[in-house]
Amino acid sequence: MKESRIKIKELLKTVPASQEVIVKGWVRTKRGNKNVAFIALNDGSSINNIQVVVDVAAFDEALLKKITTGACLKVSGLLVPSQGSGQPVEIQAQTIEIYGTADPDSYPLQKKGHTLEFLRDIAHLRPRTNTFGAVLRIRHAMAYAIHKYFNDKGFVYLHTPLITGSDAEGAGAMFQVTTLDIENPPRTADGKIDYTQDFFGKSCNLTVSGQLEGELGAMALSEIYTFGPTFRAENSNTPRHLAEFWMVEPEMAFYEIEENMDLAEDFLKYLIRYALEYCADDLAFLNKMYDNELIDRLKFVVENEFIRLDYTEGIDILMKSGHKFEFPVSWGLDLQSEHERYLVEQHFKKPVILTNYPKEIKAFYMKQNDDGKTVRAMDVLFPKIGEIIGGSQREEDYDKLAARIEELGIPDKDMWWYLDTRRFGTAPHSGFGLGFERLLLFVTGMGNIRDVIPFPRTPKNAEF
Ligand code: 4AD
Ligand code: MG
Repeated sequence: MKESRIKIKELLKTVPASQEVIVKGWVRTKRGNKNVAFIALNDGSSINNIQVVVDVAAFDEALLKKITTGACLKVSGLLVPSQGSGQPVEIQAQTIEIYGTADPDSYPLQKKGHTLEFLRDIAHLRPRTNTFGAVLRIRHAMAYAIHKYFNDKGFVYLHTPLITGSDAEGAGAMFQVTTLDIENPPRTADGKIDYTQDFFGKSCNLTVSGQLEGELGAMALSEIYTFGPTFRAENSNTPRHLAEFWMVEPEMAFYEIEENMDLAEDFLKYLIRYALEYCADDLAFLNKMYDNELIDRLKFVVENEFIRLDYTEGIDILMKSGHKFEFPVSWGLDLQSEHERYLVEQHFKKPVILTNYPKEIKAFYMKQNDDGKTVRAMDVLFPKIGEIIGGSQREEDYDKLAARIEELGIPDKDMWWYLDTRRFGTAPHSGFGLGFERLLLFVTGMGNIRDVIPFPRTPKNAEF
């Protein structure tokens, strides 16, 4: 008979009837005395460990010595109600096999209580800590919930390309993708690099957003979303910026800005509710260890309506606030996180959706308002985060869009296919982008975006 392993998460839910079980996992701690040893074993299925009770006399001393923090074990034994407090069940070990030892003198996680900064330098091992186990399980749950939300609503998951021949979106500086010899690239007669000889026959980059291609999908399938990595080559060393981050971008035909806002609010509340329901143990751990207002804050956002406000009114509030900002406030300012957080945390004390921004500080594709000054942009601003979502109604009018493209000097060669949607069966439509790691910052309460993605990509950092 094939022996089957039980995950620790399942074991902890099992009402023991003295059955034999097999568990496999990594040692978190070992303690005890000369008669009995207690091993806390974790396999990543839960924040909680299973306690393995070892009758020292029944085991080889050399084997027991090798069981130290970080070692990987297979344990078979009897599942019984726990004698001690702190866990419902425990295993009385019958056999122990060591898959891999972890030398206590060199294993970096031998001791507890490392700082998050230290753990960033050992990103290859940090998934084995309670904190990163919790964060990574929540990350998974949120990714799943995103797909479930849109699938249940009949949206089509559209895979937009990561390599793009257009750099028109303007959402940020781009990483070039090339197979040319950068030491000695081919050149045209006038000395420029000859991209016709490059892999794609033109200069290409990693995408900053899937939106433009998403719009092509929405103009056929009505409601689509993309969810994938995006890349920005800005030198932003902040706790909220990554050079490689994941973005969720729904795009909907026939939605005006109000419906776009309704969707964004409903979507965020759904995700947070999902986390509260399905990630309760991990959230309780993070709430206890890092941020004892975390769960209250999550519940608060789910239970309250977001404030909807014009950019112009927002600027008014900031100017009248008497608060001293690093970046002085006036109409036309591209709001910094200090301004966004003032509105959300000090003034309204609720999430805010800010709309109708000056067109100069927003992308070319946003629908122009009749005032000639503003566009139908919407940013969702969250406590502790600032901007979590950026989106807009799109300009569906060919002439207005083409005029804006020309005004901004965006090359026609990049835009013809995008403009075609406005030539053939154009429709009102809207969409937005949710920064997945910004969502995770909010849901986990972690303070630095480097700690909510397994292997962060930031300036001067791509070791793991
Ligand atoms: O506001 P952004 O730049 O909007 C777009 O890219 C649009 N094309 C979205 C759309 O309408 N489909 O980015 C959207 C969100 C931001 O609100 C923020 O949450 C996140 O992406 N974001 C980042 N997250 C981590 N690191 C960065 N460098 C980010 N830049 C933006
Ligand atoms: Mg934005």
